[in-house]
Amino acid sequence: MLFTTGSDEKKGTRPAPLIGRRVCLRALRRGDLVHLRKWLEDAEIRGLIGEVSSMSKEDSERFLEKVRGDAKRAWFMVVVKEDNRVIGEAGLLRMDRAWRTTDISVIVWEREEWDKGYGTEAVLLLLDHAFRHLGFHRAAVGVVGFNERALRFWTKIGFRKEGVQRDGYYYDGKYHGFVLMSILDDEFRELHGGNSS
Ligand SMILES: CC(C)(COP(=O)(O)OP(=O)(O)OC[C@H]1O[C@@H](n2cnc3c(N)ncnc32)[C@H](O)[C@@H]1OP(=O)(O)O)[C@@H](O)C(=O)NCCC(=O)NCCS
Repeated sequence: MLFTTGSDEKKGTRPAPLIGRRVCLRALRRGDLVHLRKWLEDAEIRGLIGEVSSMSKEDSERFLEKVRGDAKRAWFMVVVKEDNRVIGEAGLLRMDRAWRTTDISVIVWEREEWDKGYGTEAVLLLLDHAFRHLGFHRAAVGVVGFNERALRFWTKIGFRKEGVQRDGYYYDGKYHGFVLMSILDDEFRELHGGNSS
């Protein structure tokens, strides 16, 4: 199916939920601001994802409205289905329908939820959505060069390294490389069968 999403998604407001075996990706709600504000206090994770500054209450409210109104973004909260626990955020951004390319992101903000397979499930849901439902051909991610966990994670999913932006990221008084990675729709289908479950 090629770019025949619901009208809500076209407006960039409320993407329909993506439901996996253990996690569900659902659209952001106003009530999520409390999570976003708490998470953005975590300077170490912010450094790992390239988000150098924290957010004030007003910033986070503006972010929520921006995300909801951005037609080039399909942004979700990552929720563990078992008990509705909100553990992070994930989505497609900078979606370029003409070029059939999109960027992708996942952040499991709650550290105690790392290494349980939730990030993998969230990304597979997003890639299936991007390639099978939205008709994109390519999904790309930029990874902070010292974020070893993320580099391993994306490689394991099947992303390939395209190159490094030399000194592309300035953090904590130093320059770091910024790694560009991508996966194409046929590579995804070959590795994962085009299905997240
Ligand atoms: C990087 C990140 C997205 C990975 O998500 P995650 O949920 O921790 O990763 P997963 O559990 O899916 O996969 C990681 C490991 O868990 C293992 N795993 C997968 N399914 C599992 C399961 N059901 N139970 C236990 N472990 C599992 C995987 O084998 C993998 O191990 P390995 O790659 O070392 O072999 C997450 O740690 C994170 O958000 N970190 C901080 C922010 C960040 O760096 N985001 C990425 C920006 S580019």
